[in-house]
Amino acid sequence: MESKHCIESLTIKTSRVFPNDINNHSTLFGGSLMSWIDDIASISAARHSRKPCVTASIDSIHFIQPITQKDSVCLESYVTWAGNTSMEVFVKVIAENLLSGERKIAATSFLTFVAFDVNGKPARVPKVIPESSEEKYLHETASVRADHRKERRQQSKELADYLKVEKPW
Ligand SMILES: CC(C)(COP(=O)(O)OP(=O)(O)OC[C@H]1O[C@@H](n2cnc3c(N)ncnc32)[C@H](O)[C@@H]1OP(=O)(O)O)[C@@H](O)C(=O)NCCC(=O)NCCS
Repeated sequence: MESKHCIESLTIKTSRVFPNDINNHSTLFGGSLMSWIDDIASISAARHSRKPCVTASIDSIHFIQPITQKDSVCLESYVTWAGNTSMEVFVKVIAENLLSGERKIAATSFLTFVAFDVNGKPARVPKVIPESSEEKYLHETASVRADHRKERRQQSKELADYLKVEKPW
């Protein structure tokens, strides 16, 4: 299977901030941004694998700066690293003040997607070839994040085994 460059999965979406995405602090509602992050990351995963993909996990989403209605919101995502059937996708959220032109990183996130074959089983995906310094940095540091993810997955499984699903009444 041929490896792919990050740029082949690069996906970019720029939007205005409309009133229906605003929270009670007059800034962008975090839940809307989370949905946009998952949405764009899923397109990067599909572009990289050219297979149906599901979100396996989201490491974290860091809301670094608030986004206001004066800003545009630009989400950029690409696959940084691939295991056998899973892919790490990085999403960078840039807020741009449309009046001043000032740009800032508003949020970042790492997500993992798993590709499926026609029988709904995890399917192999191409490896990643990083090119830019950012891509190389994220690619080189990915295996450490993957190890942390395995630990957290195990902890989540243990928690799920411990939790009761019966109704409390
Ligand atoms: C994610 C899922 C496909 C894993 O299936 P599984 O049969 O347990 O698969 P495996 O244990 O063989 O793991 C397959 C790959 O996914 C990775 N993976 C599985 N769960 C993961 C998690 N929570 N975080 C990161 N990677 C994960 C594994 O490390 C493995 O990677 P590799 O092939 O690159 O080495 C399955 O748990 C699932 O379908 N979950 C629901 C997904 C979903 O519905 N998402 C939508 C959001 S609600």
